[in-house]
Amino acid sequence: MALPNVVRLVEMSPRDGLQNEPGDVIPTRIKTELIDRLAATGLIHIEATSFVSPRWVPQMGDAAEVMAGITRRANVRYSVLTPNMKGFENALEARADEVAVFAAASETFSQKNINCSIAESLERFRPVLEAACAKGIPVRGYVSTVMGCPYEGEIAPEQVAAVARELASMGCYEISLGDTVGVGTPLKAKRMLAAVAKEVPMDRLAAHFHDTYGQALANLYAVMEEGVAVIDSSVAGLGGCPYARGASGNVATEDVLYMLNGLGIATGVDLDKLVETGGWISAQLKRANGSKVGQAMAAPDNNTRTSDDQH
Ligand code: HMG
Ligand code: MG
Repeated sequence: MALPNVVRLVEMSPRDGLQNEPGDVIPTRIKTELIDRLAATGLIHIEATSFVSPRWVPQMGDAAEVMAGITRRANVRYSVLTPNMKGFENALEARADEVAVFAAASETFSQKNINCSIAESLERFRPVLEAACAKGIPVRGYVSTVMGCPYEGEIAPEQVAAVARELASMGCYEISLGDTVGVGTPLKAKRMLAAVAKEVPMDRLAAHFHDTYGQALANLYAVMEEGVAVIDSSVAGLGGCPYARGASGNVATEDVLYMLNGLGIATGVDLDKLVETGGWISAQLKRANGSKVGQAMAAPDNNTRTSDDQH
């Protein structure tokens, strides 16, 4: 199968990127500036924050203030995570454009992450989906640990497919497949995807790959060959999951965009502005930039860019 002509990038850094930052809670103004800067790069889908328990994830405790502080752009969809009805009601009040529920393919991960079994989590999501549907708010569904679990190790593709099917049948318009620990490899990614695509059409699937073992770009290329055209990524490679110790951030948006530009795949996102934003947030957080492209383009006297990366 040919690669897609267009890919929708879903930017994860304000939520998946910042939720796991150690140390003090990041000031709200930095979060809102990050979101506004990302929106100015041409990204049209940004996961802004999450309405989860602040006791579980303190970094996201200012979700309402973040949503109130951003400068909304009409063409940008600002989505938020909502694990239950309480989260959904808060998201509604904050005027989120879209909400997301998150289940796992691993029982142990589900317990550690949201304190309930996979079946219980799906039951909790049902009223969220019903309420969202009644209000006309789109719901995205995540499946975590699709290529391995920090607690259980190997995860059967059929288990991923079963959870994805449930989320889709409950009304999630799109299912994002999360390699939460970043342990997948291209063939594994294709096999997992093939199992899921038997249950949920390919054009409703997204890839959410972390880069712990440096395989994320290869895995993305592999699933794009099979027809995936929605990619979750995080500027400067920020992030990780508080319940997946050792997992690095999502694949860096700059690195994905550089690859897509080289392949002639359109995204509508400006690489220079994105690199500037990745450098800015890395400096704010006083951490090394996790994007190879970001590092290369920030290097003094960089003249290594090819004409490919100007799309
Ligand atoms: P629980 O303790 O079982 O919930 O947590 P509970 O219903 O018993 O409530 C306990 C307390 O939390 C109560 O407060 C509730 O009001 C409050 P108290 O009465 O004791 O003062 N509470 C809430 N507060 C604010 N917002 C809410 C909310 N719900 C309850 N929505 C719960 C269950 C799901 C709430 C908890 O486990 C939780 O918040 N977990 C979030 C975990 C999380 O955010 N993980 C990271 C995101 S997932 C991820 O990163 C993976 C992904 O990126 C894909 C991938 O990489 O693969 C998506
Ligand atoms: Mg993630």
